[in-house]
Amino acid sequence: MGICLSARIKAENPGNTGLSSNYVSGDGKDTSSTSSKVSSVSVPLTPRSEGEILQSTNLKSFTFANLKMATRNFRPDSVLGEGGFGSVFKGWIDETSLTASKPGTGLVIAVKRLNQEGWQGHKEWLAEVNYLGQLYHPNLVKLIGYCLEDEHRMLVYEFMPRGSLENHLFRRGSYFQPLSWSLRMTVALGAAKGLAFLHSAETKVIYRDFKTSNVLLDSHYNAKLSDFGLAKDGPTGDKSHVSTRVMGTYGYAAPEYLATGHLTVKSDVYSFGVVLLEMLSGRRVVDKNRPSGEHNLVDWAKPYLANKRKIFRVLDSRLEGQYSMEGAYRAATLALRCISTEPKFRPRMSEVVTVLEQLQGSNESESNQNNTGSTPRIGRKSANDASGGRSTMAYPRPSASPLYA
Ligand SMILES: Nc1ncnc2c1ncn2[C@@H]1O[C@H](COP(=O)(O)OP(=O)(O)OP(=O)(O)O)[C@@H](O)[C@H]1O
Ligand SMILES: [Mg+2]
Repeated sequence: MGICLSARIKAENPGNTGLSSNYVSGDGKDTSSTSSKVSSVSVPLTPRSEGEILQSTNLKSFTFANLKMATRNFRPDSVLGEGGFGSVFKGWIDETSLTASKPGTGLVIAVKRLNQEGWQGHKEWLAEVNYLGQLYHPNLVKLIGYCLEDEHRMLVYEFMPRGSLENHLFRRGSYFQPLSWSLRMTVALGAAKGLAFLHSAETKVIYRDFKTSNVLLDSHYNAKLSDFGLAKDGPTGDKSHVSTRVMGTYGYAAPEYLATGHLTVKSDVYSFGVVLLEMLSGRRVVDKNRPSGEHNLVDWAKPYLANKRKIFRVLDSRLEGQYSMEGAYRAATLALRCISTEPKFRPRMSEVVTVLEQLQGSNESESNQNNTGSTPRIGRKSANDASGGRSTMAYPRPSASPLYA
């Protein structure tokens, strides 16, 4: 079956700030090993050599010295975040020459620097160059270039001023105000469009690492997917799946993928459902700090989501008064379908996009109605009140949180 029984997948660390992660084995047992990034990566559509990959893209090849200057010698205070691959630094380059510019001038970039040695990191680096060097879409982060010099491996991206969705949902502090309902729906739609593009007939790529830290936000809260280190070409011909070693992030990986290593586009749909649920509830998919019975968001929320009267128990209390009963019900039902245990009951990402677009449309029309002042603003009803009747609620303007970093 091509499954490595000892395969490990990355586990979400409760209270994870992105600074550390541990691993679980494919059967979900925590092996609490080190924090280096996950294993085995498939790279090309048709297998290509490293030279072919690097030559075929329009990416800029940066020198180490240039990126060192652009990031002011990788200054600790310019760190935007850290992940399993390494640290991400903010930097500046000249828009035309793409050489380092004075801090604060020119084009702002994010430089991801590989901090682990060995073949694995290099393979993920190459997978990113391969995929993002060929795929362009408004909901995929733009890769500007890379650095491959001696032992140095770096990736240079457009800077995403509002950072990751993970920070907005789970970081507390004045920098990160809770995202409003309408912004959450906007972000969900953007991310869904990115996945739908990857799954489309022309592209046929399975992303395999969909999670809140890989959804980045620009200044207008447009969502863009980053991190293609685990991406894989979808099945070809009449094959239904690709066989892989089990990898991804624990909590987001689909159950049948964990059990069999069989990867399909529906694995991404499951991960999307988990993220949508995190957005609706404001809870992390795995959170050991919650009362027992609530550690696993999917297990805890499913029974509530399946009952129209109870879905409101799952919704983030910070969203009170911002959604309509109907809108909340449709979003919750969508999440529930995406996390169906049976892959065939999960919608395709193109359908997810359609549902979220409809939600957005109804959101806007209600918002306009509310702007006329004729509709009263009311708060969230209790689960018992939520009988499904269409209620009128106001949609505040998106809460403006300050730009990140
Ligand atoms: N282009 C970018 N613009 C702005 N911030 C970024 C950019 N890319 C990454 N970051 C920040 O750096 C953080 C670390 O990113 P990275 O992709 O290395 O790790 P991660 O996704 O958090 O974790 P993992 O390694 O487990 O996937 C992100 O969460 C985000 O906050
Ligand atoms: Mg990432």
